[in-house]
Amino acid sequence: MTNKNKLSVEDVREHIPMLKSCIYVDNGSTTPIPIPVMEAMNEYCLKFCTNVSRGGYKLAVEATKNFDLARQNTAKLLLNCKMEELVFTRNLTNASNIVAYALEHPPLERNNGTFDYGNPLVKWQKNDKIVTTVMEHHANFMPWMRLAKNKGINLNILEPTNDGILQPETFYNAVDENVKFVAFQHVSNSMGTIHPVKEIIKAIKEKNPEAFVYIDGSQGPGHLPVDVYDLGCDFYGFSGHKGPLGPSGTGGLYIKKDLIMKMAVMELGGGIVSDVTINDWELISDIPSKRFDAGTPNIVGFIGLGRAAKYVSNEIGLNAIKKREHLLTNQLLEGIREIHNIHIYVPEDSAYIGGTVTFNLDGWKCSELSSALAKEWNILTRAGHHCTIPLMRFLDVLDKYGGHVRITFHFYNTEEEIETIIKAIKQLSKAKK
Ligand SMILES: Cc1ncc(COP(=O)(O)O)c(C=O)c1O
Repeated sequence: MTNKNKLSVEDVREHIPMLKSCIYVDNGSTTPIPIPVMEAMNEYCLKFCTNVSRGGYKLAVEATKNFDLARQNTAKLLLNCKMEELVFTRNLTNASNIVAYALEHPPLERNNGTFDYGNPLVKWQKNDKIVTTVMEHHANFMPWMRLAKNKGINLNILEPTNDGILQPETFYNAVDENVKFVAFQHVSNSMGTIHPVKEIIKAIKEKNPEAFVYIDGSQGPGHLPVDVYDLGCDFYGFSGHKGPLGPSGTGGLYIKKDLIMKMAVMELGGGIVSDVTINDWELISDIPSKRFDAGTPNIVGFIGLGRAAKYVSNEIGLNAIKKREHLLTNQLLEGIREIHNIHIYVPEDSAYIGGTVTFNLDGWKCSELSSALAKEWNILTRAGHHCTIPLMRFLDVLDKYGGHVRITFHFYNTEEEIETIIKAIKQLSKAKK
């Protein structure tokens, strides 16, 4: 390692052999797994591949120790929270659905010989509202739509500026005492915006301190430092298989300490109870986040995620990743801005730009363009609606282009790759009228 013991771009590329065979810029979808993360998963599989939080023999104790350490590292290094507040999830989608379930159902509680419904997280009333935005991924949209429908309440959908920035004033104006829940994204997967999340949460809580705030951080942790206490959110979900460079099938959900014990859990089963009788049950309470671990968890995956958290946070450095992605994005934007028939969908103010560039070329359907980039240049991009169909309609790109083409970076992408991408887009822009 060079640069004060941090990993360089070359070091990271050595850890990801796949990068030698293509220009991989579909990191917003999922990311390749570096060798040190694979090694941690291999170590579990080869040396102590046993179940966790169950067995008393030495190998099972070793597995549990590693699994708990993985939760601790993931919580501390990716979100700056405690392991007691970090639920392991399959992905961001799972995180949203866990929260939606708890907002819809009261918890069942054993209480002095009775087994009954406890207080619901929210006592929904007719005029209550949920607030979200038109920019959201379907995973941070559909669960709230269903919740609103099932509870007979309103879903208020906010809009960004024309270049895709969610503004604190928009939330300030929309929130009143009837708003019980607000859900929005940290970083847009379709326009690349890093939204002013802390300021937005401040505006929401100023208008209604009782309103719960859920942040979709699918494109956040691993790409930039996140401190959930500093942000002031109640819930923060993320994907382990994107920014953090963890395996697919992993993700996480931060739940504020005073809420987690009050939530109904979506899945019931082994590993989460301290007692079950023929009349009732009692959930574990020593590590509240483990109440959401019903059944054997994805042990190997979460051990990988814990190792990945160390890799991106300690060994590369989250500020270094954020800075580099910003640099690469600006290089690409500078190279393609002047193309006569290009339409670019990222914020104009560079302060809001992350590691994503989305665009269309007149004359091309986005899927054709993405295929040409792959076939002729070995540049792997994503094309389509990116699971943000309402946003595609807002941008008016669905019928004309079928969505847009998305290029998403991580630390390991290179300046030379960007130059190739610029050359390719320029050439394809001349291929059709
Ligand atoms: C902003 C955003 N939210 C949610 C999701 C869904 O994430 P997952 O596939 O991990 O559930 C994605 C995935 O691309 C995303 O980019």
